[in-house]
Amino acid sequence: MGDSLNLLPASYGDFRRAAEKRLPRFLFDYIDGGSGAEVTLRRNTADWESVQLTQKVLRDASKMDSSVELFGEKLAMPLVLAPVGMGGMTARRGEVQAKRAADKAGIPFCLSTVGICTLEEVGAVSDRPAWFQLYMLKDRGIVEEILARAWASGVRTLAFTIDLAVLGTRYRDIRNGMAGGLGPWGKFRSGALDYALHPRWAWDVGVKGGPHGFGNIAMYVKQSKNPRDYLNWTGSQFDSSVTWKDIEWLRTVWQGNLVLKGVLDVDDAKQSVAIGADGMIVSNHGGRQLDGVSSTASMLPHIADAVGDQTTLLVDGGIRSGQDLVRALALGAKAALIGRPWVLALAAGGEAALTRYLGLMKQDMRTALGLSGAINAKDVGRGVLLRP
Ligand code: FNR
Ligand code: LAC
Repeated sequence: MGDSLNLLPASYGDFRRAAEKRLPRFLFDYIDGGSGAEVTLRRNTADWESVQLTQKVLRDASKMDSSVELFGEKLAMPLVLAPVGMGGMTARRGEVQAKRAADKAGIPFCLSTVGICTLEEVGAVSDRPAWFQLYMLKDRGIVEEILARAWASGVRTLAFTIDLAVLGTRYRDIRNGMAGGLGPWGKFRSGALDYALHPRWAWDVGVKGGPHGFGNIAMYVKQSKNPRDYLNWTGSQFDSSVTWKDIEWLRTVWQGNLVLKGVLDVDDAKQSVAIGADGMIVSNHGGRQLDGVSSTASMLPHIADAVGDQTTLLVDGGIRSGQDLVRALALGAKAALIGRPWVLALAAGGEAALTRYLGLMKQDMRTALGLSGAINAKDVGRGVLLRP
């Protein structure tokens, strides 16, 4: 999992570089990229970095505690592994490996509607319930059936994603033919040749890692046979007519916690509370949807001011380190999610690499708690920031 000189990965950037070597180009680009000119993608990380922490010392850092409670569950740190479509393609039965790593780290794992492993496979890993993420499919009967399966496999928290009514335009995916349309040479380059140049992945996932379909919906909808056509397929299956009315409906068919994922606007946040959602994730889908929108770090404080005391506020997009977790709490979130980091760590070296990355995040977070004067994750407020 280290680089060619066998150095140990210590930061997000290290895992990302290792993943880039391991994965076929089209898959790495699909994960790593964003929409448009990737302005929002860059802002997401840059804006966390620009949130300045204070250094406050001599407050008995020996009593430090990074744990929090979220929806009645104890988390060893305020972190959740975000739903990632095709996340399971980065390592053999990828979501199962990720769930094991999340269990070890004492944090929740959220399975995507378009994940590779099934609800049942992930549910069998341990007694700790996974979260499930839902995209509204056109057939509501199928949605009800999937939700019943989720409940039966132990899921109690549902993240309903509301920022993918239309799919963002992702230039890297267009180039790689992920949205179809490649000519014969392109198909070869982004297929057979790409696999041949990444033999470890081709063996681990391609040969040994099947089945490769979207485990949770394979039985209901005809799938594209080729990963390159994945995004076209996604666009045709998801229901773009979704409105707040559908959330009212969802509220009647889902008895667990309902979290709306993809709130970036104060009015939408107020509406989410009014409609009876238990929580929301301030998110721009990791800069993969509407390029040019604000970073989540810059919107979070406004949404926290408006609804922070009436809901469970979560955030994702650009979170890369334990310091970022403290920044997210300081700006009003109860916990944060990471998408690319867990998938790329998994690509770099499976469960062991992801466990290592999560350990590093926790260590970083403890440093930030101990030296910013907060000491306990529960006590982090805007006081740990230079300009609250
Ligand atoms: C995603 N995301 C996502 N979200 C969701 O609700 N359902 C999904 O299937 C996916 N699929 C997906 C695929 C890939 C490759 C990525 C990178 C992201 C968005 C994800 O849950 C999360 O919001 C972002 O990844 C957070 O940003 P970072 O941590 O990747 O910067
Ligand atoms: C994506 C979708 C599938 O971001 O969530 O690629």
